[in-house]
Amino acid sequence: MAYVISVIPGDGIGPVIVRSARKVLEAVSEAYGFKLSFVEALAGDSAKRDFGEPLPKDSLDKIVSSDACLKGPVGETAKDVVVFLRQKLDLYANIRPFKTLPGVSSKWKDVDLVIVRENTEDLYKCVEDVGEEYAVALMVLTKKACTRIAKVAFQMAEVRRKKVTVVHKINVLRSFELFRTAALGVARSYPSVTVEEMLVDNMAYQLVLNPQKFDVILTTNMFGDILSDEAAGIVGSLGLAYSANVGDNFGLFEPVHGTAPDIDPSYANPLAQVMASKMMLEWLGRTKGNAAMLEAAKGLEGAVLSLLRSSENLTPDLGGKATTENLTKKLVNVLLKGKSTS
Ligand code: NAI
Repeated sequence: MAYVISVIPGDGIGPVIVRSARKVLEAVSEAYGFKLSFVEALAGDSAKRDFGEPLPKDSLDKIVSSDACLKGPVGETAKDVVVFLRQKLDLYANIRPFKTLPGVSSKWKDVDLVIVRENTEDLYKCVEDVGEEYAVALMVLTKKACTRIAKVAFQMAEVRRKKVTVVHKINVLRSFELFRTAALGVARSYPSVTVEEMLVDNMAYQLVLNPQKFDVILTTNMFGDILSDEAAGIVGSLGLAYSANVGDNFGLFEPVHGTAPDIDPSYANPLAQVMASKMMLEWLGRTKGNAAMLEAAKGLEGAVLSLLRSSENLTPDLGGKATTENLTKKLVNVLLKGKSTS
């Protein structure tokens, strides 16, 4: 039986890096013995131009009826596509790992942290009133959403370095009391996990000074969005930052970055999209009970690390000269070689 993957190619560099990730997924599924079938779901600026809406109903239907979605970055319509899908499909946990990697230039060593970002509420609920003389945006937090995202963070910390940093801005906005109370309430069920609290401005500062001291960072939607790009800069490139948007029944996997309108798409780094695919295999493997997929995810991560370590065939953002296509070919070779010797 084939697992159906809906694929949003997206805009800008999206189609190029998604093509790369598909090639890698085709190779990995064949090597590890499971089947994936891909169904394209057009969305984003190009869909708005071609069909008059950024997320046509046909695309939404394809996504909803698939086993998981692999999404490329979309442009100015990001709100109508990804923010909409996160809320519509109740993908309440945005999980964003950041790790310093071999062969990638960074001012820091040994960074290994995960941002766990609430994905359905906060200012990104987009309840707004914008007039000529004023603009109002409502920050929405609910106990239910704050509690379930805290559980995700603590469960993750339990199998990592057992530390959660709860990030808010309670000194200015009383609304964060709800988030804080939920997080500290959940913490009581995880006695082995150390909890600390930090105001988001201090968090931004500490993250730059001392990124190694963080394990799991639990925060609200917009703070998580902003801190993620900071963390990506700390580990070396946005082109390496990937994420999962997961709920209880569905997962959508995408890079953290956008469409990179300032670069030639044929030189885009596809590794964030590839690593988002790795997260998708892990999630499918876990939720569908498919051991081959879990093995494949490990093999794929190993191949990416080997490629980075060799410093060959890397794209310009990583100091190389390779095209996306060259990097992809090399990665597939490394992957298949690794599989045949394992
Ligand atoms: P961006 O993330 O596209 O680019 C920021 C910087 O990182 C640029 O210098 C870019 O060249 C570089 N970069 C990003 N990904 C790269 C890759 N794979 N390889 C090499 N370099 C890479 O951020 P920006 O300029 O804020 O957004 C551009 C567009 O993307 C906007 O229209 C925005 O709405 C959209 N966007 C979409 C997202 C999504 O679909 N989830 C997320 C973030 C932005």
